[in-house]
Amino acid sequence: MPREDCYSVLLALFVLCIWLCSVAGLENGLARTPPLGWMAFERFRCVTDCVKFPRDCISESLFMRTADLLVSEGYSAVGYEYVIIDDCWMERRRNEITKELMPDRERFPRGLNFLSDYIHNKGLKFGLYHDIGEKTCMHLGPGANGYYAKDAETFANWNVDYVKLDGCFIKNINLDIAYPAFGRELNKTGRPMVYSCSWPYYQKHPNYKLIKKHCNLWRFADDIRDSFDSVSKTMFKYYKEQHNLTKHAGPGNWNDPDMLVLGNYRLGYEASRLQLAIWAILAAPLIMTNDLQTVRPEIKKLLQNRAIIGVDQDPLGIPGRCVYIAGSIQIWVRPVMPFNNMGVHSYAVAFVNIGNYEPCPLCPLTYEIVLERLGLQNNMGYRVIDLFVPIQDLGLFKPKDKFITRINPSGVTFFKFTPVDIY
Ligand SMILES: *[C@@H]1O[C@H](CO)[C@@H](O)[C@H](O)[C@H]1NC(C)=O
Ligand SMILES: *[C@@H]1O[C@H](CO)[C@@H](O)[C@H](O)[C@H]1NC(C)=O
Repeated sequence: MPREDCYSVLLALFVLCIWLCSVAGLENGLARTPPLGWMAFERFRCVTDCVKFPRDCISESLFMRTADLLVSEGYSAVGYEYVIIDDCWMERRRNEITKELMPDRERFPRGLNFLSDYIHNKGLKFGLYHDIGEKTCMHLGPGANGYYAKDAETFANWNVDYVKLDGCFIKNINLDIAYPAFGRELNKTGRPMVYSCSWPYYQKHPNYKLIKKHCNLWRFADDIRDSFDSVSKTMFKYYKEQHNLTKHAGPGNWNDPDMLVLGNYRLGYEASRLQLAIWAILAAPLIMTNDLQTVRPEIKKLLQNRAIIGVDQDPLGIPGRCVYIAGSIQIWVRPVMPFNNMGVHSYAVAFVNIGNYEPCPLCPLTYEIVLERLGLQNNMGYRVIDLFVPIQDLGLFKPKDKFITRINPSGVTFFKFTPVDIY
């Protein structure tokens, strides 16, 4: 067979293997790429006093306003889709007679079908929080324990598209049994709902093979906070466990490092770039938590960077990893589309300056590396673009060429290397 055909067969086998060689995960047709959206929690927490804090309280108006802004500010056009209510939406008790969960009657006066319709009419999707245990994490509402079927049905009746299931108050509950059981009840409703599990976060030795079989997403690290420190801790946790974490992610099933905190108070511009780039490398859900009305223009531009969202949403769905770590430098690499005519894939590469470089921790740092050391071996070379300035073509680099980059403290530079064809 001619050389080119031979390579396309190899390529097809490679893609098939990514699919078949891994253990089958949950197959509900959802989250073929990591979900994009918005969730209330990190920014709005559990504010329930709508008289004192009308703009910040967890209420239908917050979610309606957010749905409006996702569309009017251009976020939905680049893919942000899920509007997700986190904790603190419930009445303290179930309905006495039907035992159904109820939304807080003052803060959600028109009920969740009203809100869900409102969100759907904007072309967006509706996500809702619950807890597998006795109570929700903020103590405000009843957990699902004892009511899996009822609650799954209630969620389906509210036309929920995405369920975040937390894991607080789980004394005497075996998560390895409970999460699959709730997932089966979701499935039985017949309504496709993304199933986001906090399951591994609550275990010392998570069984990711099992988790992947039942969940579309799973939280593997602490709740994210609005700081560089929190972002870098989450990155380090992934790095330590990446051998296990990368094995199980792929179309339909993703590691979830928690929300994007861009657009709030404590993450500077450099750290904002950093979180976005690394979340794209990880194939993480991109779920913002911010007040969309007050996001500064330069941060909004980052959040709407199509080239970086494109890396996150790459159809191969292979999560990246940290391949080099020394002193202040980390290098994170992810295989992405497109392939060249010999079946060589492209790379997204993030160079991180974590900001502890001696003798000047808070200075920009110049770093150079010969590309083949990163595994970039295509003899004809790679065309390179800066993903933060994607129109800028930085030229052709061969495997033996040095690539030089200058990285700001607590910052990142982020490039895509696309292999040129071989003739
Ligand atoms: C239920 O599970 C089956 C088998 O995995 C799957 O084909 C189907 O899409 C699922 N349905 C829903 C609504 O999740
Ligand atoms: C990876 O998973 C294996 C098998 O579950 C476990 O024994 C090991 O401790 C895990 N490694 C890390 C770093 O968590």
